[in-house]
Order: sequence, then C-alpha cells, then structure tokens
Amino acid sequence: MTAGVYTWNMSDPNDGDGAGTVSQAGIYTALQGGADTYVDEREAAAIIRRAASNAAQLATENRAWVMRAVRYIVGHQGVRQILDLGCGKPQRTNVHQVAQAIDPEARVVYVDNDVPTTGRALLEAPGTIYHHADIADVEEVLAVAATHLDLCQPTALLLGSVMHVVPVDDPAGLIRRYVQALPSGSLLALSHVSNEGGATPAQQEVIRKAYAGRLWVRTFEAIHDLFGGLELVTPGLVDVWSWPHITEVGIPEGGLRVVGGIARI
Ligand SMILES: C[S@@+](CC[C@H](N)C(=O)[O-])C[C@H]1O[C@@H](n2cnc3c(N)ncnc32)[C@H](O)[C@@H]1O
Repeated sequence: MTAGVYTWNMSDPNDGDGAGTVSQAGIYTALQGGADTYVDEREAAAIIRRAASNAAQLATENRAWVMRAVRYIVGHQGVRQILDLGCGKPQRTNVHQVAQAIDPEARVVYVDNDVPTTGRALLEAPGTIYHHADIADVEEVLAVAATHLDLCQPTALLLGSVMHVVPVDDPAGLIRRYVQALPSGSLLALSHVSNEGGATPAQQEVIRKAYAGRLWVRTFEAIHDLFGGLELVTPGLVDVWSWPHITEVGIPEGGLRVVGGIARI
C-alpha cells in the first residue's frame, strides 16, 4: 500500500461486508468525498448534503482546521503530546504526520470507537498508538494515554467535531474530567457543529436521522460553555474556516455552521 493512502478493505473480517453499515467516521469521510466508505455511509452523506448544501464544504473545512490547530499546538505552542479523542478514520494527512513534520519527537494517542481495523493499523506509527474506546470511559482512556504520553507534561486535548456525536448528559463535565488530568501549559482544541447555521428544525431532523439519531448539535453559547471558562487564544471561538486568521471569503450559507477554538489549560 502506498504510504499515507488509505484503501478500504471490504473483506475486513471484523467489519463484515458493510451491508447496512453506517458509522459516524464513515459519514464524515464520505462528506469529504473519501472513497473508503460503505454505500450506506455515502447515501447518508448525500441526504445530509441535500438538507444542508454547505455540509461537505464544512466537513473539509473542519478537517483543515484540525490540521491548522495541530500546527499551532506543536509549532507555535511547543506542545508535543496530543490526545486525539474521536480521531476518525485515517485520511491522506493525519494528526501525527502534521505534528511530526514540525517536531519528529511529537507523540499522539488516537482514540475512537468506530474506526475499522484496517484504519487503526494506519494510525499506529512511530510515536503514535490507537486505542479503541468510548471517550466517555475517561479513566480507561487516560490510563492508556499514560502508557504512551507523559501526562505530567503539557498535552493537547484534541476534540475535533466529536462532542456533537457523543451521547452524554453533561458534555462539559466529560471534557472537564480530561482537562483536570492535564498540567498547566496544556491546551484544549475543540470544534463542534452549531445549530445556528440556518437549517430549519425539519432540515436538522433529516440530518439527525441520517446520523441514526446520534447527533447533538448545540448553540454557539452552549459550545462556548464546553470550554469550561478556560481562556481561549485569539481569535476565540469562531467559524472553523476563519481560524486562526480571516483570509478567505468564507463558506456560503447552507444550513450548517462549524465553530472551533483553542483554550489554555
Ligand atoms: C466527525 S468525526 C471527526 C474526526 C476527526 N476528529 C476530525 O475532526 O477530523 C467524529 C469521530 O468521533 C468518533 N466518535 C463518536 N463518538 C465517540 C465516542 N463515544 N468515543 C470515541 N469516538 C467517538 C466517530 O467514530 C468519528 O470517527
């Protein structure tokens, strides 16, 4: 296999033949036009695109934001440990590749509960591990992370477009438990779908159904609250395409909005 290029193996024994398979990781990949997806995931992505015409563009912009956030974390802040919760399927460029291009000693712990075995192998590289877990199992995830990262050293907690697909009653409380385990000098990077992008309640319901009901979009204010009062670095919590600096014309209105920001712990 060509380095860095992920090819879906439909005969993966751990994943069956894909019939009726819809994973959040797969829908996100399909929205970005990735080929390594099941037909049902591509169909779900098509339904979402019909309900929100900017959905595909925003998925791509979110991924680009994650990569810029990693450059900021490692290159600007000198934080060389990343705990990537809800990391998603491997893509052409992954968090550890961006981090290690800046600092070859950078270490990454990837956590997801939906990445197929073929994808997991591609996320396991020198300086990285992949842990298959529910991020709501905080103690277990932190225990595994501590086998690979020195959690007494500054660490970036990366939550790229994941908290709106995690079914928890107290998302801020979940994040706080991770934050409390990290030392001063650490960072919290988070992006999240906002329900203030113009989609009507009916359109939002169509999108939620495409995610098999596992979607909890929030207001800008509620997303801001997920940072638990931590100080956000400039420019604060903004549309992902405009972070960290506004140089582009922006994303056309089309129903959805994805905002992101980085805070100091
Ligand atoms: C939209 S993708 C985001 C991928 C990546 N973080 C990014 O921003 O490019 C959301 C990911 O969160 C994962 N996820 C959802 N709920 C999760 C949970 N409870 N525990 C672990 N991973 C979860 C999904 O499997 C999916 O891969």
